[in-house]
Amino acid sequence: MNKNLGKQLWHRALKTIPGGNGLLSKRPERYLSGNWPTYYSYCKGVNVIDLDGKKFIDMAQMGVGSAILGYANDELVAEVNKASESGVNCTLNSPEEVYLSELLIDLNPFSGGVKYARSGAEAMSIAIRLARAYTKSDKVAFSGYHGWSDWYLATNIKGKNNLKNHLLPGLDPLGVPRALLNTTFPFEYNNSEDFLKVIETNPDIKIICIEGARFDYPKKDFLNTIMQVAKKYNMIIVSDEITSGWRVTDGGVYKINGFKPDIVVYGKGMGGGYAISAVVGKKEIMQMANESFVSSTMWTERIGFVAALKTIDIICREQLWKHLDLLGTIIGEGWKKSAKDNGLLISINEFKPLISFKFNYGNDNDLILTIFMQEMLKRGYLASSSIYLSLAHTEEIVACYLKHVDNVFALIAEAIRKKQLSNILKTDIRSDAFKRLT
Ligand SMILES: Cc1ncc(COP(=O)(O)O)c(C=O)c1O
Repeated sequence: MNKNLGKQLWHRALKTIPGGNGLLSKRPERYLSGNWPTYYSYCKGVNVIDLDGKKFIDMAQMGVGSAILGYANDELVAEVNKASESGVNCTLNSPEEVYLSELLIDLNPFSGGVKYARSGAEAMSIAIRLARAYTKSDKVAFSGYHGWSDWYLATNIKGKNNLKNHLLPGLDPLGVPRALLNTTFPFEYNNSEDFLKVIETNPDIKIICIEGARFDYPKKDFLNTIMQVAKKYNMIIVSDEITSGWRVTDGGVYKINGFKPDIVVYGKGMGGGYAISAVVGKKEIMQMANESFVSSTMWTERIGFVAALKTIDIICREQLWKHLDLLGTIIGEGWKKSAKDNGLLISINEFKPLISFKFNYGNDNDLILTIFMQEMLKRGYLASSSIYLSLAHTEEIVACYLKHVDNVFALIAEAIRKKQLSNILKTDIRSDAFKRLT
């Protein structure tokens, strides 16, 4: 019987946890507020069991990009269990902290130092702190999303629209010191002109920060412009590879496109789902961590290091990026064919390991996407408009998924033709929950 225990628990959560949980991307309003399972009891490979005991295949977020090996990968779990039994936080240090830093420096040959944290936003805060300490400048030009920290949200002190082109628009900087006004300057991704305009109008900027990739790869001309400007004015480049890292190479996307950052930041997939993030940078910049205080008890906990060592080992051994590229290509082609056959208007982004599409129906986009998720859920899939692919996804799983997508696209196309979209929707239209709260 469907008790929808997930829905009941979410109502309880809202009474004690403001916002319901700790991560916007896991809130049910972003999917199907009425029907989304919301909680899991067990996950393995690409399979997820909810609180009612229903099984789903994850063709959506895979732990919001953290489960790059799939859920509960046997080798990784065995390694972590061993570490857990040996004690995870001690008066003495964990040797894996050193082994991991040596590995990260090997894999990022420009670098000479590593500092760790647990979340992506923490690591980004460390990176910006060290960059500011080194350049003796407060001012950062950036593009993309970089976490919940003060340095980043300060962008919206000037006006809530300042982050409108950067993944999460409308974030409220309430509680962020107003003294941080005019310390961060956003520019549009892949737009060299916009970047140059920002630099020309704010000559004190000494730090540039971009994402390794998001929906699309960075254009050569964009990267070249950034590098030329950085060289000319002695600026530091930070490449945030928290989402893009380990999905295209044995490290960052920067390793294949000729980009030359001074600091690279990793998180998410690096620990295969266990909490670990790293700032990897040039020696002279990373040395600033000896002068500016950067320190936390849980940054020395053992499991994160052990998990990252094993996850990176598996990624490199399997050359995982080839598998992700292949599956992303098959899915992109499958979406495209199915949309064409059914007369649906969609566009598909090019970053394969996090392949994504968009319906092109203006104000009806969220309505149509909600129906897509609703119908895929009925067919046993956690699905959305993007998929973090993993080692556990296979060509067979993808082929089966695409057959279901084809059926759902046909159903949606017919509803559009007959103007019956609202009739088949059984829940509220999805929305960006944070926007609604603010
Ligand atoms: C590029 C990028 N930077 C930073 C972050 C923040 O990471 P976390 O959510 O682990 O704090 C994210 C998270 O989505 C991200 O995609």
